[in-house]
Amino acid sequence: MTQETDVYMATATRKARSRRYLMCRPTHFDVTYSINPWMDPATPTSAGAGLAQWKGLHDLFVGLGHDVALVEPVPGLPDMVFAANGATVVDGKVLVARFRHRQRKDEAAAYLEWFRRAGWAEVHQAEYVNEGEGDFLFTGTEILAGCGFRSDRRSHDEAQEFFGVPVLSLTLADPRFYHLDTALSVLADDEIMYNPAAFSLKSREMLADRFPDAILATEADADVFGLNALSDGRNVFLPRAATGLAAQLRERGFVPTGVELTELLKAGGSVKCCTLELRA
Ligand code: ARG
Repeated sequence: MTQETDVYMATATRKARSRRYLMCRPTHFDVTYSINPWMDPATPTSAGAGLAQWKGLHDLFVGLGHDVALVEPVPGLPDMVFAANGATVVDGKVLVARFRHRQRKDEAAAYLEWFRRAGWAEVHQAEYVNEGEGDFLFTGTEILAGCGFRSDRRSHDEAQEFFGVPVLSLTLADPRFYHLDTALSVLADDEIMYNPAAFSLKSREMLADRFPDAILATEADADVFGLNALSDGRNVFLPRAATGLAAQLRERGFVPTGVELTELLKAGGSVKCCTLELRA
C-alpha cells in the first residue's frame, strides 16, 4: 500500500447514499447560439468528444451503484444535455422548468412528458421562469434558490409553496456564473461549497451567516467551473481542473473525483448541469 493510499484511507470518512439521476445523452450537442458568456458559436465543437466525455460521467455514476435514467434527446435542442435544468425534484414532487430563452423553451415539454410517462404523480410546470436544479439546490432541509440571470425571483416563492420547504433566495452577480449550480454546490446535509464572488453582497452575508463552515472556492477553481459539482455524500464529482477544491474536499473526508467535460464547458456546463437528482 502506498503512502498516498494510507492517507486516503484514513481521511475518507464520508458515507455515500445511493442516488437516482436523470441524464440526457448529448447526441445533438453543439454551440449554435450564445446565451451565456461561455458560449461562442465560432468555437468548433465535437459531438464525438462531447459524447465520450459525457459517457465517462454516466459510467462513473453507474459504476458506483447509482441508478441513472435517461431522457431522449430532441433534435434542435443542443443544450438538452444539461438535464439539471429540466426540473427540480424533492420528496416525489416534480416542478418542471420554464426556460428564460426561446432557444431552450421546448426542452420543458420533453421533461414534462418524461416525468408523466415515468409515473411521477405530482408533476407541475412552473409558472414563472425557473431553470430547475440549475437554480434550485436542495440541502436536505431547505432549498437554496438563485436569481439574477435566469430564474425569476418570483419562482422562489412558487417553489416554496409547491414543495412546502423553506427557500433561501440568493442573488447571483457575475454573468459567468449565471446559474446557482455554477457558484454553489451541496456536499452533504447542510454542507456546501461556494464562490462568494459570484453573489451579491447581501447574499454573501446570508451565506456566511447560514453556512459558517462552508468550503470557499478560490477564483482559480471557480474559473474552471469547479463549483459545478455533484456529491453523493462521499464521492464528489467535479471538473478535473479544480484541483484546489479537490484538496479541500479530501481534507473534509470526501472523495473527490475529477471529471473531464471540457467539450460541454464550451456551452457553459459541466458535471452538475448534466445531472438532475430524482428524490423519491
Ligand atoms: N448553455 C446552457 C445555458 O446557458 C448551459 C446550461 C448549464 N446548466 C446548468 N445547470 N448550469 O442555458
